Amino acid sequence: MGSARQDFLDLLRDSAGRGAFVKLTLGRYLGSDATLRNLYVRPVMIHAGPRWTFVWHHETRDITKNFPPGKGLNQVERLIGADFGTANLFTTTKDAQLEFPPGGQAWLKIVAHEASAPPSDRHDRQKARYIVPGATWLQCLGVTTSNGMVREGMAAKFKQINRFVELLAPLVREAPLPADRPVEVADMGCGKGYLTFAAWQHLHESAKTPVHVCGIELRQELVDDCNATARNCECAGLEFSAGAIADAVVDPLDVLIALHACDTATDDAIARGIKANAALIVVAPCCHKEISPHLVAPAVLAPALRHGIFHERQAEFVTDALRGLLLEWAGYDTRVFEFISTEHTAKNLMIAAVRRPQADNREAAASRARDFAGFYGIRSQHLARLLDFPLT
Ligand SMILES: C[S@@+](CC[C@H](N)C(=O)[O-])C[C@H]1O[C@@H](n2cnc3c(N)ncnc32)[C@H](O)[C@@H]1O
Repeated sequence: MGSARQDFLDLLRDSAGRGAFVKLTLGRYLGSDATLRNLYVRPVMIHAGPRWTFVWHHETRDITKNFPPGKGLNQVERLIGADFGTANLFTTTKDAQLEFPPGGQAWLKIVAHEASAPPSDRHDRQKARYIVPGATWLQCLGVTTSNGMVREGMAAKFKQINRFVELLAPLVREAPLPADRPVEVADMGCGKGYLTFAAWQHLHESAKTPVHVCGIELRQELVDDCNATARNCECAGLEFSAGAIADAVVDPLDVLIALHACDTATDDAIARGIKANAALIVVAPCCHKEISPHLVAPAVLAPALRHGIFHERQAEFVTDALRGLLLEWAGYDTRVFEFISTEHTAKNLMIAAVRRPQADNREAAASRARDFAGFYGIRSQHLARLLDFPLT
């Protein structure tokens, strides 16, 4: 045994950390279960987060069990060379074979091959992750462990930023971004910077021109922490600035993103994007407190909206629908969709707006926004005020 076994485990740990682990098979069973043949292990993403699925193949049946990646790795460590005499690891760039010959020295053979696509880690095998868990900034922000495993309590956040970036990627390709200077990106109300770092990594790696990303956040201590992490992890072109969204100096601004900026901070962010003529504005709104007390139910809806829950949901709908209509009026093609399943968060709506080459038919768009607000008795709303758009 010795270093061959350790090198094999290091390769497994490293590939898992980089999202490159495809499959592990353990064979030549040495234990006392007469029906067990072999064990297959592969990474999957389930609702509870990333897991390693272990399938024990017996003569007439299979037994399947999921483990968090850290525990999965411990299991494998315990089993190879003890319960199983051979192990084969498949990664996106290398395959490795570890053998424990009876009475002899363990040996390891590693074969590099052309890079294949990262494995789909979902049970339904549909989507690859955009942000691989091996990045050092994920470790510094406490999303992953030093082994590159997503921490138990951070699976939802990891999934959320992956999904945001997954949706952002095609929008960035679609938006009319400048080709002759660095693309300027701002993440408004960036908090601890999870999305800012994730968006930076994706854009930095995929954009044709250099990218400069700035996170704007009210709380100075979070900004200081994020700047320290960006420096320590050598994230070139990523910085954080303290202040209110409404006062942030962002000029030029090409891509504006905001994930759960509180209440009307989402309106501040959208307005900043519109005023800077940003090519792309992508926001996932948070709480919707402003409209609720002013929402006057149209007569036909009044009996339904006397129920608090309907009233609240209607206030959310009216707020976000009005934001979409105002973006249309401002010259943006706007789409609204669910960005992450409701089982992860109720704040799961995304508004994505791509600037049109020319703002056309503004009067018709203005009428639509005004008629909509009027229907619900809304006479004033934060984004409309910021855009000097009279709702009455
Ligand atoms: C719910 S957190 C979301 C943080 C981050 N975007 C994320 O999703 O992980 C909202 C953040 O927005 C910040 N914030 C709220 N209003 C703001 C404003 N007007 N200007 C700047 N930051 C603001 C808060 O301090 C908080 O950190």
